[in-house]
Amino acid sequence: MKNPVVQYAAAAGDYDEFQNLLTGIIKILGDGYLLQKQDILHKTPFDPAPAAEYLQQKFNAHFAGRAALRTDTYLTITRQVKKGRFYTYDPKQLRDFRTAVHKVTDVLKAAKCEPSILSEKQITELVRRILAMRFGNGPFSLNNFKPTDTDIRMGERSVRCIPLVNSDNVDMPGELGTFTELNENEAVRGFPVDMLSFLYKVPAFEAILYNQVIEIPAQQATLNKLEVKRKRHSGIPDPANALCVEDIDLLLKDVARNGQLLVNVHYSIIVAAPATDIQKSVNYVESALFQLGIIPNQNAYNQLELFRAAMPGNGVELKNYDWFLTTSDAALCLFFKERAMEDEPSSFRIRLTDRQGIPVAIDPADLPMRTGRINNRNKFVLGPSGSGKSFFMNSLVEQYLLFNMDVVIVDVGHSYSGLCAYYGGKYITWSDERPITMNPFLITGDEYNLEKKDNLVTLIALLWKGAGGSVSTIERDVLTATISVYYASAFLDGSGVDLSFNSFYEFALEKIPEIKSEERIPFDLDEFRYVLKKFYRGGEYESILNETSDQSLLNERFVVYEIDALQDNLVLLPIVTLIIMDVFIQKMRNRRNQRKALILEEAWRALMSPIMANFLLYLNKTVRKFWGEIIEVTQELSDIIGNPIVKDSIINNSDTVILLDQRKFRDNYGEIAKVLSISATEQRKIFTINQLDNRESRARFNEVYIRRGSTGEVYGVEVSRQQYYVYTTEKPEKNAVHIYVQHYGSYPAALDAFLADIERSGLPAGDFVQKINQQNKPLIL
Ligand SMILES: Nc1ncnc2c1ncn2[C@@H]1O[C@H](COP(=O)(O)OP(=O)(O)OP(=O)(O)O)[C@@H](O)[C@H]1O
Ligand SMILES: [Mg+2]
Repeated sequence: MKNPVVQYAAAAGDYDEFQNLLTGIIKILGDGYLLQKQDILHKTPFDPAPAAEYLQQKFNAHFAGRAALRTDTYLTITRQVKKGRFYTYDPKQLRDFRTAVHKVTDVLKAAKCEPSILSEKQITELVRRILAMRFGNGPFSLNNFKPTDTDIRMGERSVRCIPLVNSDNVDMPGELGTFTELNENEAVRGFPVDMLSFLYKVPAFEAILYNQVIEIPAQQATLNKLEVKRKRHSGIPDPANALCVEDIDLLLKDVARNGQLLVNVHYSIIVAAPATDIQKSVNYVESALFQLGIIPNQNAYNQLELFRAAMPGNGVELKNYDWFLTTSDAALCLFFKERAMEDEPSSFRIRLTDRQGIPVAIDPADLPMRTGRINNRNKFVLGPSGSGKSFFMNSLVEQYLLFNMDVVIVDVGHSYSGLCAYYGGKYITWSDERPITMNPFLITGDEYNLEKKDNLVTLIALLWKGAGGSVSTIERDVLTATISVYYASAFLDGSGVDLSFNSFYEFALEKIPEIKSEERIPFDLDEFRYVLKKFYRGGEYESILNETSDQSLLNERFVVYEIDALQDNLVLLPIVTLIIMDVFIQKMRNRRNQRKALILEEAWRALMSPIMANFLLYLNKTVRKFWGEIIEVTQELSDIIGNPIVKDSIINNSDTVILLDQRKFRDNYGEIAKVLSISATEQRKIFTINQLDNRESRARFNEVYIRRGSTGEVYGVEVSRQQYYVYTTEKPEKNAVHIYVQHYGSYPAALDAFLADIERSGLPAGDFVQKINQQNKPLIL
């Protein structure tokens, strides 16, 4: 089975829920049953499926062999026979036993623990693997096996059984919860983790088996025995006896008041490590237990016995002194409850890493749509400058392009030039000499419909009033009517005019006065004529709306519009962004069989005006119908707080929210959390971004929080060095890579040489980059 609580999910409630589930199972089983849970932690080298693509091969190579910590969980249910007998057969009891097992399986299924019943062959393998303390999929063999008083030797390895308590001297904390809290630093304080989560960090271990056994005795008989014991102790006045009486009272009270079952429980942690390191591992476990208030049994000389009791179903071999009587609730607190993050079952997946640095594949689109976790694929990305938004987006887009996906990016600041060059996409840069041109008016009769008309009205309103302005209802109606007649005469009457802004402008100047006098309505034609003139023949921006854009763009898979030069042009920025989006809409219609993504980096801020509200809403809603998604990326808090347009058109239509390190926003977090509807639990996870102690033996990386629907997870964005140099947004690094690409002709060759040269030069990467930029040629020359 699988433990239902995902590690680092911050969901304190999940631990309680699993605890209740286990309590339920104990009640289902009842007297005479033994419930054994084995959680096996082992390290398996990461072994990716081979990749065909260069960067993906490098990704695999970067992680190959990294030890992935995995948890396997087994539950064994057994029933005791009458004392002194080895075997009894009773068809009725067998039937009861089967029913109980089925009930438990159903309960586990309902709780998403994915139970499956092992076949005889699987059970044999499990027993053998435990005997060898080798887990995972690899081959294993039993090695010279030699039990001693302190450990069990298996060839070069040593296995130590650490029982948590013994009944002579019970040293347990007075109070236990279902989980504990991290306390490493301020940012992660209070973050819920498994009671036993220290097991992940045991130094030098190869495998850990945590054996947890509960025996359910006949309740009344046990209560009676306790009463007798209580009486015996209260008879003789002595402090130790008083304590004992107190403990028994507490226990009895719990049973009486809270309907608890009395159970005997046994836990032991069985650690396998190289013989030279075993003491280090054991010391760590003991001191971690001590911090939990548990003093492990120091007299565990029965190593072989404890080890045998860890075989599935062999808990019955435990002796009296290994058991400890308590309530089921208390016993279950120390049951292990977590599982590691896993690949999602889907064919459309991107790879990130889990928090230990092992690649994990998640489906950002289809699977969560299918399961109803999200209702659209749109994404909203927020993080302060330099937090790694563009870097993460590069990694996402690189993987999107591996699927048959169209990607259009509107960027400011050249964050995608490397990736675009790598993939041979179209890179269109705005410059005053070569502005990006389009002719949004040129369409065929088929393409003319209500929404196209709406978009053109929005465009004209924007040209006229500017991004900050607004049009009145009358003005909007007049524009709509003018456009209708303009196209009616073009398509129906075959007027033969060239469709463009120029011809529309001329047409409007004739038509609007007609409408005005017929309807006797106010319309500031002079202002209209004057303001729009700069886009007309002979005007400052005459080419922008009159020259057809490169039609091949419609069939291009990867297009980047770089409009950094327009950033401060408040007139053109929104207009150009709008028409690029119009091109994207056209693309959506033309290329129905492709997935599509439109990525707007900061540029969408130009659109945050009332005039654009409808258009944005329309766009964010429509892409879903065309197998598309919009990703809006921003660093500006002021954009999202207190802007109803952002909230209504973008955030409300982006079921996926992606957050980078939010510490810089900490002071405003209440407001951000409100706008993005981030719950307290999610906020906890968000503030662990980049804060865990998980950087050892990993490359430089950042973490990212991805919320699909109402809950999210934190992942690592760690990539190979080759990918790093394709994605980087640091100018000097980009430049140095560019020099290599120019010289070597292709990215793979250039990156191979670049990294080899860093090694050869013996310089730190930063100095190497500087040197290449200075000499403006690769190292070898
Ligand atoms: N996951 C990562 N692994 C390694 N380096 C990273 C990672 N994320 C970011 N960096 C480094 O940080 C630099 C800045 O990141 P990035 O350009 O993505 O920030 P940004 O959030 O887009 O900032 P801005 O808002 O200014 O555009 C990158 O060029 C890269 O060198
Ligand atoms: Mg950026």
